[in-house]
Amino acid sequence: MTGNELRRRYLQFFQAKKHQLIPSASLVPENDATTLFTGSGMQPLVPYLLGKEHPLGQRLVNAQKAFRSQDIEEVGDNRHTTFFEMLGNWSLGDYFKREQLTWFFQFLINEVGLDPKRLYVTVFAGDEKFGLARDHQSAEIWQELFARQGIDAPIVAQPLNGLNQGRIFYYPAEKNWWSRAGEPGKMPLGEPGGPDSELFYDFGPDLGLHENSAWRNQACHPNCDCGRFLEIGNSVFMQYLKTKNGFTLLPKKNVDFGGGLERILAAANNEPDIFKTDLLWPIVSRLMDLSARSYVDQDQFAMRVIADHVRASVMLIADGVVPARKDRGYFVRRLLRRAIRFGHQLNIQGHFLSQLVPTIVEIYQAHYPDLSDKLPLITQVITDEEIKFHQALDRGMKKIAQLGKIDAQVSFYLYETFGFPFELTAEIAQEHGWTIDQKMLTKLKKAHQQQSRTASAGKFKGGLVDRNQTTTKFHTATHLLHAALRQVLGNQVEQRGSHITRERLRFDFSFHRALTDEEITRVEQLVNQWITADLTVYHQILPKEVALKAGALALFSEKYPDKVSVYTIGHDLKDDYISKEFCGGPHVTHTAEIGAPLKIKKEKSSAAGVRRIYMSYAS
Ligand code: ALA
Repeated sequence: MTGNELRRRYLQFFQAKKHQLIPSASLVPENDATTLFTGSGMQPLVPYLLGKEHPLGQRLVNAQKAFRSQDIEEVGDNRHTTFFEMLGNWSLGDYFKREQLTWFFQFLINEVGLDPKRLYVTVFAGDEKFGLARDHQSAEIWQELFARQGIDAPIVAQPLNGLNQGRIFYYPAEKNWWSRAGEPGKMPLGEPGGPDSELFYDFGPDLGLHENSAWRNQACHPNCDCGRFLEIGNSVFMQYLKTKNGFTLLPKKNVDFGGGLERILAAANNEPDIFKTDLLWPIVSRLMDLSARSYVDQDQFAMRVIADHVRASVMLIADGVVPARKDRGYFVRRLLRRAIRFGHQLNIQGHFLSQLVPTIVEIYQAHYPDLSDKLPLITQVITDEEIKFHQALDRGMKKIAQLGKIDAQVSFYLYETFGFPFELTAEIAQEHGWTIDQKMLTKLKKAHQQQSRTASAGKFKGGLVDRNQTTTKFHTATHLLHAALRQVLGNQVEQRGSHITRERLRFDFSFHRALTDEEITRVEQLVNQWITADLTVYHQILPKEVALKAGALALFSEKYPDKVSVYTIGHDLKDDYISKEFCGGPHVTHTAEIGAPLKIKKEKSSAAGVRRIYMSYAS
């Protein structure tokens, strides 16, 4: 089966079950400063999972482009990639566990042709600390589904009890709870999540490489990570919202399913190496031609890394991310430079990355037609970066010649100044017979990591990198600013838009003239005064009418569902509040967490009758 065929069959299968097809969103999330990249199919749907009505109804399906930067170091084995396509179907308060598990199982057996005996499943064991119940229903539904296939499917009540005893396994939250932030304890307030049920394909005991497994003291089991089992789909029963009073039920019980296209394809072809699927193999083949080497051992590793990194770069560039020193662009730079470095290992001469671009576009253009139009641009961007890196290499090599040595400090200097990957420097050092003190280098890297973590708020992590940090604080500050503007300028001020980054908040509002200096100072004073007063931020889910009656401000341009999420900031919820707004969150729980003083950095016109304010920390 080909990747294109599998994608088509999946979309058609769920369309036949009354799901509406939605296009893949961009890898760059829109209006969502909480994540750098789209890393799962549900991400663009968060407002709808929280209760907002989706214009296309309650059943949705798509194939979503996803990029998980946190997996960069994992690439090189048989199954990890940074870019992948996630097949996804959603029920927004419509069907639930029985339909979801039944349909996915049917799809795998009837459409993909998998042997049900090769399928194993996991379910949520519950979490007493958070009062979250064990998912008996899913376990029982699975048992029935296997029974219909003539398969006795024992449920293993204790996790990690060994494969021989079970087919359905309970695991704790660490494995079988899903939210963008991970386990219940790691979720920020306002984040949706739920128990999940993962499905694994068994490639057979011969593939088990137990010595590689983090679980090697246990008998083999689906999550053992030894290579024998491949997770091919995850049904999340997204029904909870984390609030300051613990977990409450979302307005609707949702299903959020995601399955890796390449992984299901690998199972369909009973081929444990996803790089051998037709979505990646043509890139590997091209690399074999360019290097005149075979896909084995260390070269196999290098080819996997290059294939993944260049494919991810092509997709990111197509979505508007270009190599740069910081933020999203930094990832493209890192991917491309790492790919070049592994190209050296394969002894490929000259510039080669751009030669892979047409191969990648050809694989994907049927489903993503914009790639053909963007081919010249993508090629140009990649060529430029390759030239730049080679120039940096030249300069770095001159510096090495000047210094006459490479030690830990030099290795670090080359990394910082010329973007030399450490592995490359190590190779050069080895050629000269120089040794690098690895302990010292690790120390330097750690210090740097620590620094970039506090400067870049977890750039290397995916998911909710910013949620508890600056963007969340700015988000709450936006509500305070809105309230302050209304107090100083009058209630004709209405929010027209906002945009938040880690550096600043931007707020657009209806007003007909520029603000005076006095007005600006007064607004700043109010915002800072409310921050210092450490007001409580309350969160409620309310019927829309009740929220409106209570005076909550809604966005003029938005349509709201019957139940809405409302944030109130003040001494109490009812009378003594500063701000009450319809809003999905997230927010800090107390305003002092924002940290004063904030300052209005700029005030200008944005459109006719609309002003724009930029605000950030004073220093
Ligand atoms: N959102 C779920 C995941 O990414 C389906 O695994």
